[in-house]
This record gives sequence, C-alpha cells and structure tokens, in this order.
Amino acid sequence: MNKKTLRDVDVNGKRVIHHCDFNIKLRKNEKGELVPISDVRIKAYFPSIFYLLNHGAKIIFISYLERPGGKVVKKLSLAPVAKRLSQLINRQVHFIDQLVGPKATKFVNKIRPGEMVMLENTRFYPGEEEDSNKLAKKISQLGDLKVMDAFGHAHRIHASVTGIPRHLPSVAGFYLESEIKTFDKLMKNPKRPLVLIVGGTKIFDKIAAVRNLIKKADYILVGGAVANNFLKAQRIEVGQSFMAEPYVDKAKGEKLDPVELSAKLIKDFPHKVIIPIDVKVGDNINNPKNEKIIDLKKGKLPKNWTILDIGPKTIKKYLAIIKIGKTIFWDGPMGKYEDPRFRAGTLEIAQAIANSNETTILAGGDTAAIAEDTGLIFRYSHVSIAGGAALQYLAGKKLPGVEILAEK
Ligand code: 3PG
Repeated sequence: MNKKTLRDVDVNGKRVIHHCDFNIKLRKNEKGELVPISDVRIKAYFPSIFYLLNHGAKIIFISYLERPGGKVVKKLSLAPVAKRLSQLINRQVHFIDQLVGPKATKFVNKIRPGEMVMLENTRFYPGEEEDSNKLAKKISQLGDLKVMDAFGHAHRIHASVTGIPRHLPSVAGFYLESEIKTFDKLMKNPKRPLVLIVGGTKIFDKIAAVRNLIKKADYILVGGAVANNFLKAQRIEVGQSFMAEPYVDKAKGEKLDPVELSAKLIKDFPHKVIIPIDVKVGDNINNPKNEKIIDLKKGKLPKNWTILDIGPKTIKKYLAIIKIGKTIFWDGPMGKYEDPRFRAGTLEIAQAIANSNETTILAGGDTAAIAEDTGLIFRYSHVSIAGGAALQYLAGKKLPGVEILAEK
C-alpha cells in the first residue's frame, strides 16, 4: 500500500481521531439495555487501539451506525458500543452524546494521553452524507491527526470519510492496511471458477456489486432480500417480500430501479446469475406464525406472504456450485437469520464454504457475525468486516476514503 500508516507518524500526546466501522446492529439484552449483537467490528480495531494507547495518544473514536438519515435517532446512539469496547479492553471509554459542539470540544481538550472518548453517530448530522465541508472542518478541529481504520466506510463520500482528510493529516490504521493487503493478495489472480454469493437487505449496494463484478465472476448466486428483485424481474410473485423503491441518483440524473437492473443482468448474463428455484416463506415479515416451502416452478407465493429464506432445492443447487468454486466470495445472509426457522439457507452456505479447501472470503458485518456465531470464523481464508467497500474493492474500483489518505 502506498499510503502512510500509523507507523509513519508520531502520535505521542496527539489528539487522534480514530475512525472505526462501529456500524453494529444493536439488540436488547435481558435487562432491556441496548447492546451490540456481535463484537467482531470492535475487536478488529484492537491492534490500532493498543498501539495508540502504548504510544501516548489521546483517542477520539468516530463512526456511523446504521442509516438515521441526518437526524438524531436515540436507539442508534453509539453509547452501547462505547460501553462494550470499554468492557472488552477493561479500560474506561468515555462517551459524549455529541459529535461537534461545545461538549465535544471541551471534553477532547481536556483528555490526557492514554484516555479515550467516543463521539456520537456521525450520521445524526445532516452534513455527514453530503460530505459537508463545514461539518468536516468542525470534526477536524477536535483532533491533530486522523487514523482511518474504517475500511467498511471507505467507499462512502461522507464528511467523516473524505471530508476530514481535507483539513487534517490522515493515515491508515492497521485494520484498514491489513484488509487492503489481504484483498490484494487473495484477489490478484483469482483461481476459477470464481463464485460470488450475495444476500442481505442492502439491495442497491448488492445489485451494484453484481453489476460491477459480473464480468469478473463465473457464477453469482443470489439470496436474501436481494433475490426478491431478481425473482420479480422474472415475473415471479414475491408477495409482501422486502423490496427497495427505485432510487434517483441526483449526481448522474439517473433513475435506478432494482427490478429493471436485475432483469437486465439476467438477460445479459443468463448463465452467470443464479437465482432461487424454491423459497421458504412466512405469513408475516416480522413475526410469522406459519411457514412453508414454495417451489417457484410449481407453486405461487400467496399475496400477503413473505420470502424469508432460500428453499432446499436452491440450497442443493448453490452447494453444488460452491463445491466446484476455486475462489469463493460471500457477502450477506440468505434469509432472516435472526429467526431459527429461516436460518437453514445461511447455515448451509456458511458450512459449505467452510468445508472448501480453496480460497474463501467472507465480507460484511452480518456475514462476519454469522461466521463468529457459528464458530466457523477460522475456517475461511479471510473474513472481512466490510461489506459494500469490500465488494467495490474486489470489483477493482478505487475507494475514495483510501485514495484521500496521505501518500508514503
Ligand atoms: C457496512 O455495514 O457495510 C458499513 O458499515 C457501511 O454501511 P453503509 O452501507 O450504511 O454505508
């Protein structure tokens, strides 16, 4: 990597803005408190955090969590992440419920070397997703240096990602550096067939990834909510299944309809794009009382039902392709993994990839959490906690959050 890293700068006594991908889903524990569902997106930053602490830095953590859309959404506060980080490293991590403003300024100006503070969700601020220079400048004033470790945010043009480096010297953290090195090594000359498996609910990001990667991959197996668009594109009834509204790309003046995009991909690459042939459905998206398997060639989804997993025939078909894959890349669950009744597709895929002796790469917060949850995490060649950014990097696209870092 031709970018400066933490090793190339003096952090002693400096206020270091450490940007991590703490975009972690939260759940309520037995006491009704919000807690992160997984620790993988916290532990990934330990090498940089301990290096900073051991070298006398004052750490100011920043991140975004989910998509609150530029306003304060209390349940998406980073406070539970600060608490969990503090428990995991057994050191105090202060939390300030502000990103910029008098409270944040006062606090960062009084912390001492070896102390840590986490600031509030950057996406609570309207300027974040517009890469507002004003917001970027205000955040930058809180630090002397920025360490970019959030590989998972590096594909975004946000004030926290591309804005701060316009005002503050910015270098790569150890996690970001290791992701880039590993992807460069694993994906330099990928052995074929290259099998890409995409699922999850971030429909636009995943369809864009399929579009970017379709020429590079030999097979793209589609599951999760992403598959609903491909099924609809084939005029298959999807009932109440989760879909995404068409999206207008203001910068390009282009209207993007996920179903139309899927239809084009199937038409242009019929042998590469593989979609479910049967699905497991429930009578409700949130709390289904009844479930059944529908063979999409023979049966039709009842109008008010929802697709919540891939079916057994699809699993068999996908597993056969995974078996011949020489490079396998997976991002996104195949169904509603949180509900044990709709977990089979994801679990079988996770296990089949773990059984492969070839190069296997997992990407994305949910997928990494599943790898941890199933105990399979050490059976893959690489597990990246980044999702969309990893897919973009894999497609050979530049990541603006990396490009803007200081050169060596
Ligand atoms: C992720 O979860 O993949 C990253 O944190 C990026 O999240 P975003 O797609 O909401 O920018």
